[in-house]
Amino acid sequence: MCGIVGVIGKSNTTEILLNGLEKLAYRGYDSAGIYVNSQTGQDYLVKEPGKISVLQAAVGPEVQGTIGVGHTRWATHGVASQANAHPHVSADGRFYLVHNGVLTNYAELRATYLADVQFASETDTEVAVQLIAKIAHDDQLSAKEAFRKALTMIEGSYAFVMVDRDDPETLYVAKNKSPLLIGVGDGFNVVCSDALAMLNETKDFIEIHDREMVTLKKNSLQIEDLDGTFIHRASYHVEMDASETGKGAYPHYMLKEVDEQPAVMRRLLNEYVTADGQIKINADLLTALEAADRLYIVAAGTSYHAGLIGKTLFEKLAKKPVEVHVASEFGYHMPLLSAKPFFIFLTQSGETADSRQVLVQTNQMGYPSLTITNSQGSTLSREADHTLLLHAGPEIAVASTKAYTAQIAVELFLAVALGRHQEQAVALEFDVNHELTLVATGMEAVLSDKDQIEALVKHYLATTRNAFYIGRGTDYALSLEAALKLKEISYIQAEGFAAGELKHGTIALIEDGTPVLAFLMDQSTIDHTRGNLQEVTARGAQTFTIVSDAFAQPTDQIVLPQVNPLLTALVGVVPAQLIAYYASLQRGLDVDQPRNLAKSVTVE
Ligand code: F6R
Repeated sequence: MCGIVGVIGKSNTTEILLNGLEKLAYRGYDSAGIYVNSQTGQDYLVKEPGKISVLQAAVGPEVQGTIGVGHTRWATHGVASQANAHPHVSADGRFYLVHNGVLTNYAELRATYLADVQFASETDTEVAVQLIAKIAHDDQLSAKEAFRKALTMIEGSYAFVMVDRDDPETLYVAKNKSPLLIGVGDGFNVVCSDALAMLNETKDFIEIHDREMVTLKKNSLQIEDLDGTFIHRASYHVEMDASETGKGAYPHYMLKEVDEQPAVMRRLLNEYVTADGQIKINADLLTALEAADRLYIVAAGTSYHAGLIGKTLFEKLAKKPVEVHVASEFGYHMPLLSAKPFFIFLTQSGETADSRQVLVQTNQMGYPSLTITNSQGSTLSREADHTLLLHAGPEIAVASTKAYTAQIAVELFLAVALGRHQEQAVALEFDVNHELTLVATGMEAVLSDKDQIEALVKHYLATTRNAFYIGRGTDYALSLEAALKLKEISYIQAEGFAAGELKHGTIALIEDGTPVLAFLMDQSTIDHTRGNLQEVTARGAQTFTIVSDAFAQPTDQIVLPQVNPLLTALVGVVPAQLIAYYASLQRGLDVDQPRNLAKSVTVE
């Protein structure tokens, strides 16, 4: 949440900052701002509530310089207003600071040290910049030492980038828990929350670890800890092409990402499975999983829903018991653990604070862990014992689509590999290449019939205020994801229910015309779920079915190609993603950047 960029040593600083912020808009889009300094006495601060486009329109041609910082905000402390937008400036006009994170002791710092300072905003960030200015002034410290001293006093999560207006030769950078990278160039350097933001400038990046600070000049960089011990860290090369981060000919990132899913399935087969069906997963990881008596999958949102599907895969293919937990609950209400737990963190971004706080605890407890993520080098990837990558390519739309299906596919590889490692017949016989290729083809068949889904959405969901998805078993797990997709981008109040539970209370919500969408892909329960559909129809609901073709009846609406019963969610989710997409589009909403959300949720 919140995206940060900074650049030093480039003549087109403003353009680089604005382009970078556009790429980081997925991290929040409540307000945006830049501070640019020409290093010859001219400087500019422009910030606006609203999306990056509002900031772009407000930045005049005169806003030029050679050092600058930028920020796109997801509001935590204070509403989305111009005053609360970053960069924040100290009362003496000297320091300009952008921040991603949440300072937990800001009120205390303000009361103790800054009682006489006039504040311009309600943000925790302003406390940090005022504190730095106060220390520099009262203790007569250099900008760097004042920055360092303030960091020793500040608690909470932060990625900071600061410019000193009196000496605009340096970007002062620091990080704790919030992501931040240095991008290295020839005669320039950049800093960013995500490499995506700076791929046009450089592909060489250096990680910053928690509680480190960096002094960044155009030709040099110095990393040190807060005690002043210098740290040497090599850069790494990012292979991704800047064009992968664009929309191409698509009207929205979400549609592009939904369409990419068959290709992601095939890419994953290439990455993880040999032509003869061997799964390429490190033996150490399999040994650690085998030694565990229970797997704990910890995740949030869509990733949690992918974990629910994973539970079935691990239990059926590897005969390993699994618990799936919502990260924000697990960390603070940890259940009684088994004797030998193994933790699997599912996280597209690799930065989700709720999941990370669990990993920090399980690391302290000494338990083994794996992060399954789309983001190489991300915090959860670095801090877990093992990492498996999703290879889904950048997912920019706030609503997660291809990461969900990629997570299920990687869980499948792991479950099959573990099952085979333990000589489980069902895993030994499972033909991953064949089954996942069928999935990719099945997805393509659904994607080739978008018009039908668009028309059904017009008919069933055009004006409704609420809707229900129902299913049993993995169809229920899928209902949760389908409902989340629908609510987050169309604002229809959608809920996913276990079909058999409706009659125990929820059926009271059914009125004339209430849309009830059912997944019918699990053979053992289809008849029961069809019965539940009858019950809601009798009470006025408009029902809508998404069914595997082997079980389809003439009255069913969306018929899906048959795939392995363990993998039906991979194909079944595609119409649900498209239903959400068209519902959002038909309501004239912002599909890629729905209100109140951000993609990478780095606050708890
Ligand atoms: C919904 C969505 C979120 C994320 C959740 C976890 O479409 O994207 O629910 O799944 O915020 O994010 P990651 O997977 O990055 O940990």
